[in-house]
Amino acid sequence: MGDQQCCVVVLISGNGNNLQALIDASSHSGYTISHVISNNPSAFGLERAKRCEISSSVLNHRDFGTRGDFDRALQRAIDNQSPDLVALAGFMRILGPEIVKNFSGRMLNIHPSLLPKYPGINTHQRALDSGDHEHGATVHFVTEELDGGPLIAQGRIPINANETAQELSARVLIKEQQLYPTVVSWFASGRLYLQNDQAVMDGAKLPREGLQIIS
Ligand code: GRF
Repeated sequence: MGDQQCCVVVLISGNGNNLQALIDASSHSGYTISHVISNNPSAFGLERAKRCEISSSVLNHRDFGTRGDFDRALQRAIDNQSPDLVALAGFMRILGPEIVKNFSGRMLNIHPSLLPKYPGINTHQRALDSGDHEHGATVHFVTEELDGGPLIAQGRIPINANETAQELSARVLIKEQQLYPTVVSWFASGRLYLQNDQAVMDGAKLPREGLQIIS
């Protein structure tokens, strides 16, 4: 990247809360969001991009015969932007090994659980059902393993007595909106990178569970 701003393409499928947080922080975090891609033509995140004059495109996965066809089209759409980083932000498609390998070390995801707990969906209800006392969000490098790449950072919150999955989800989202821009800024500044399948920060391998952000 050199002294150029880190160029980020954000992939979305829905509301775009994390996209909005990344946009709002970009002016003072050393990165620029150059483009937004959604697999869902009605994603509200596309409206968020438009309001912030960020270009966007829709690749509706329903228009493609196979997952591989979709991934190849997505690869081309991303390559057209020549980004330094691809940030998955509420992106609900599982990407195949080929595109993930092509962006190894340059693709991040935020997941609403304290990975490796609860990969996949319905994380908040699963944490409640398990009687956990804490929950949160994790940012990780994307690898072929779903929600399984090297962990970078986690934001933790206590689970309140008798709270619903919806209430918990809303509190986790606040933590996500703090966490993701922070991690992207670390990548943009060159402090954070992937080396030998390990997340490295300031030259030191990060712990297996990533950095714990208490705030
Ligand atoms: C968020 O909980 C995010 O962690 C997960 O998808 C949810 C919706 O994200 N990946 P957004 O509101 O579309 O950013």
